[in-house]
Amino acid sequence: MIKKVLVVAAAVMSMSSMVQADGKGAYAAGGCGGCHGATGKSVVPIYPNLAGQHAAYIVKQLKDFQSGARKDPTMSAMAPLAKGKEQEIADWLAKQ
Ligand code: HEC
Repeated sequence: MIKKVLVVAAAVMSMSSMVQADGKGAYAAGGCGGCHGATGKSVVPIYPNLAGQHAAYIVKQLKDFQSGARKDPTMSAMAPLAKGKEQEIADWLAKQ
C-alpha cells in the first residue's frame, strides 16, 4: 500500500517537473534568454522582463507577433520560434 502511494507520488512529481522543463526547455531552445534573461529577468533595458507576467498576456503577445497584429523588428522575427509552445513557455515564465 505505502509502496503504491510512493510510486504514484513519484509519477506525479516527475510529470510536473516534465511540464516545467518543457516550458523552460522551449524558452532556452528559442534563444529567448539571450535577450530576456535566462529566467525572463532582462538585464538590458530595451528588452522587457517576462518573468512574473501573466501567462495569458504572454501567450497573446507571442500570437500577436506571429500574426503581425503586434510588430517589432526584433521580436517579430523571434516569435515563430515559440510556435506550438506558447502556453508552456508562458506558464513557466509566469512562475519565475
Ligand atoms: C534578439 C532579442 C530578442 C530575442 C532573442 C527574443 N526577444 Fe522577445 N522581445 C524582444 C524585444 C525588443 C521586445 C519588445 C518589442 C516591442 O517593443 O514591441 C520583446 C518582447 C517580447 C514579449 C512581449 C513582452 C511584453 O511585455 O509585452 C514577449 C512575450 C517575448 N518577447 C517573448 C520572447 C520569447 C518567448 C522569445 C524566444 C522565442 C523571445 N522573446 C526572444 C527581443 C527579443
